[in-house]
Amino acid sequence: MSLKDKNILLGVAGGIAAYKVVQVARDLTVAGARVHVMMTPGATRFITPLTFQSLTRYPVHTEVWEYWTQEAQGHISLAREADLALIAPATADILARLALGLADDIITTTMLGLPPGVPVLLAPAMETHMYEHPATRQHLQTLVERGAQVIEPGYGNLASGAVGTGRMADPAQLVSAVRLAFGRMGGDLHGKRLIITAGGTQENIDPVRYIGNRSSGQMGYALAEEALARGAEVTLISGPVKLAPPFGCNFVGITSTLQLEQAVHQALENPAAKADVLIMAAAVADFRPASPSEQKIKKDGSGQAPNIELVLNPDILAGLKGRPGLGGLLKVGFAAETEDLTFNAEKKLQSKDLDLIVANDAVTSIGQPDNEVTLIERSGMITNLERSPKRVVAGAILDKVVEILAKR
Ligand code: CTP
Repeated sequence: MSLKDKNILLGVAGGIAAYKVVQVARDLTVAGARVHVMMTPGATRFITPLTFQSLTRYPVHTEVWEYWTQEAQGHISLAREADLALIAPATADILARLALGLADDIITTTMLGLPPGVPVLLAPAMETHMYEHPATRQHLQTLVERGAQVIEPGYGNLASGAVGTGRMADPAQLVSAVRLAFGRMGGDLHGKRLIITAGGTQENIDPVRYIGNRSSGQMGYALAEEALARGAEVTLISGPVKLAPPFGCNFVGITSTLQLEQAVHQALENPAAKADVLIMAAAVADFRPASPSEQKIKKDGSGQAPNIELVLNPDILAGLKGRPGLGGLLKVGFAAETEDLTFNAEKKLQSKDLDLIVANDAVTSIGQPDNEVTLIERSGMITNLERSPKRVVAGAILDKVVEILAKR
């Protein structure tokens, strides 16, 4: 769901993680949102209001009394016009004051006036002991019970030099969490369950070597991000890649094709969450060593390289044909080709019994940030998309998915 013209309240409390929130303000603004920043006095000691004001182009609010006599009455109109509120960094102090319902600064006063139903996101950031203190736990629980969503802090280096939990989620995760919250409020995939596979599989030759491919996972992750932003529930099954799982997905990490197959079956057979769509964006290794060595294979001195016998891996998509219980599942495959793109992709669409296939050039797409694809539907309809960033391609693929789902 687009962030264009959404009014986002960004409450910045006094923690060093405030510096990371500058990037959040910038990214939300670039995405088209109107970002109204409120800062506690403590926050202004870390970052100046001018920094946020320069990036968002809106006045930054630091005082409850400001604009009191004007038509736009500071905290009253800020609260009234908000589509979503994000508190980042949410310090132990502001969590306590929000939980108690205090109204002693611009953030707490505005938050008390927020109309019901406006999503509230909290991104805690503090020292581990403060985060784990029963008082903080209790305040967070109170806020969650009132409907707030917590963007959990991570484990890692803290500004104090200590290592532990309490590190604020990354700016990209905060932006994803905002998109997710809007998606859940009427995105065109709201209520749909998507299983998306991503990255490449790896097949062990011995404990240190494997057969793999150059897939970076960017296409599958972009699909997952975009589907979440449109309100879908997403299970992302991924081979080893250098990307962080998008905020809000159910993440399943796999390594080999057999593990991928098992994870796909498990996700499809989850009785509590019947999937509507399966998108196989993973680059699946078609072959694996017949018997991987348990020890590292050494040069044997014969001057000959070892012969590694390969066996075929199962075709995961084709194997779903006729599988019971999958009635109504919309299946999307990718076709990575180096020649006769459309012809080969159409053949795969039919042999794997797909609703949609995304055909791309294996050489110019794999591992690249952008992609040029052709979408081929079961009906024979063909759509050529120009080369674009994978996030844009993901949007176009999901537009098609929404269109096909609507026709059912
Ligand atoms: N796929 C799969 N299981 C496999 C291989 C591929 O489910 N063992 C899926 C891929 O995730 C993709 C589609 O099938 O969505 C097509 O994959 P691709 O590698 O293009 O084709 P293959 O079926 O492997 O055929 P070939 O390598 O011979 O072109």
